Amino acid sequence: MAGQGGYRPADEPAVAVDVTVPSIARAYDAVLGGKDNYAADRAVADQLRRTMPAIGELAWSNRAILGRTVRHLAAEAGIRQFLDLGAGLPTMENTHQVAQRHAPAARVVYIDNDPIVLAHGRALLEENDRTAVVTADLRAPEAVLADPGVRRLIDLSEPVAVLLVGMLHHLHDDEDPAGLVDAYMSAVPPGSHLVVTHFCDTGPDARELQETFLRFLGTGRFRTTAEIAAYFDGLDMLPPGLVPLPLWRPDTPVEEPLSTARRLMAGGVGRKP
Ligand SMILES: C[S@@+](CC[C@H](N)C(=O)[O-])C[C@H]1O[C@@H](n2cnc3c(N)ncnc32)[C@H](O)[C@@H]1O
Repeated sequence: MAGQGGYRPADEPAVAVDVTVPSIARAYDAVLGGKDNYAADRAVADQLRRTMPAIGELAWSNRAILGRTVRHLAAEAGIRQFLDLGAGLPTMENTHQVAQRHAPAARVVYIDNDPIVLAHGRALLEENDRTAVVTADLRAPEAVLADPGVRRLIDLSEPVAVLLVGMLHHLHDDEDPAGLVDAYMSAVPPGSHLVVTHFCDTGPDARELQETFLRFLGTGRFRTTAEIAAYFDGLDMLPPGLVPLPLWRPDTPVEEPLSTARRLMAGGVGRKP
């Protein structure tokens, strides 16, 4: 749980970070209503809320689909290894909690390049010897996949779930997100799965929010459905395909039409044949 434990004074970082510069992980935590964030991050969250008052709903829809996809992969698809790329700060229903509830032997490695994720994540996420938090830049797939912390838990000869949840839109086009997805999915065997959720260009509201993200956080690309679908090239999409987040196998009936905020991200799961 974000901020759990009260082990540091309110506005003092646990690791050496520049708290005057907002970070993606901490701004997201602020939008989710967590406590692992500082004034600069809360200022970004405020700006985002000014542009899209229901942005918190969008963020929580993202956490919810993460839980539903991981549950499906662990409980029904037989996946026992999860590589959570751009994992973020711990919050409710983290990947290992969901996966290990349904498959106690499941192994989970969280990757993030924000040192604060490691600092706050270790205590909460490394609850057992089947989970690990590794600080690494996911834009270097070879280094990530060769990291001893990854190799200890992830066997690349067995199917892996590669999670890029709420992550790829924080990469600019010139960082080649599609090439990165391809590098990870090429390294894992058939039967592996890819989970992607992504900001979706649904029209003027999306573009306005993109402006706010780019101006105040520096990243946040709202890509078209076709661009997001292309990340799954070569994979078999699981039904219902790439859809607005609340529509991916909802646990309870979803009221439609969806609100503008709930349509601003799309997600899906693909299986490597
Ligand atoms: C919006 S958060 C998503 C967290 C979580 N996956 C979720 O959906 O709830 C995106 C995360 O990606 C991380 N991130 C951004 N760029 C990264 C990079 N190049 N390498 C590793 N992590 C990165 C950020 O630090 C942040 O924690």
